[in-house]
Amino acid sequence: MNGDKLVIAIDGPAGAGKSTIAKEIAKILNLEYVDTGAMYRALTLKVINSGIAIDDIENIIKLANSTSIKFQNNKIYLDGTAVDEDIRKNIVNNNVSNIAKIKEIREIMVDMQQKMAMDSNIIMDGRDIGTVVLPNANYKFFLIASVEERARRRYLEIMEKKQEDISYEKVLEDIKKRDTIDSTRDIAPLKKAPEAHIIDSTDKSIEETVREIINIIEGR
Ligand code: CDP
Repeated sequence: MNGDKLVIAIDGPAGAGKSTIAKEIAKILNLEYVDTGAMYRALTLKVINSGIAIDDIENIIKLANSTSIKFQNNKIYLDGTAVDEDIRKNIVNNNVSNIAKIKEIREIMVDMQQKMAMDSNIIMDGRDIGTVVLPNANYKFFLIASVEERARRRYLEIMEKKQEDISYEKVLEDIKKRDTIDSTRDIAPLKKAPEAHIIDSTDKSIEETVREIINIIEGR
């Protein structure tokens, strides 16, 4: 399967806390962490900045083929520039799912992600990690939370950054829209792998959620 490598896949809907939880687990177990959502976000940012229309699939694919996306020290670099802040903007939130549903884009991303997972112990989070990208992962988790709780967390995050002015209701509506596109698309929709453990973080702290996952990995 993975030799003696440890490979962990975490999937789930928008705002379920995947990246926070995955980062913590990476620290505790000393794993590389790959945020695949950040990769789709980085490409979306480039499409927006290039002035290419979101439905201009041909040119989006061309752009993707001449794009470099890399992680270094837990930062994401788009063509050599760190874009961690810019990829979290609302304009990216609201367009990323339309880019991520393009078949050719997913092929490019999955290929990059599988290469990243080749040489190290790794934890990767996204929508299709347990089902498509790392089907042989040693452990698979499907992280969920109620849509209201997910919107509440995302709203607090946006308010903390004080970058954008948006209501809770709008955040809730945007998350519902993104959930629908992500789980109904033809290619690699958000879906629980049959063997994935469901972790519901609705009423749990970050620490409690991390502990629940670590306990499963350590067989307690
Ligand atoms: O952090 P948040 O839960 O808001 O989303 P994300 O993990 O950053 O992912 C952003 C978007 O990228 C998702 O809504 C999906 O449309 C897309 N995505 C995907 O299609 N496949 C992945 N493996 C990861 C993300």
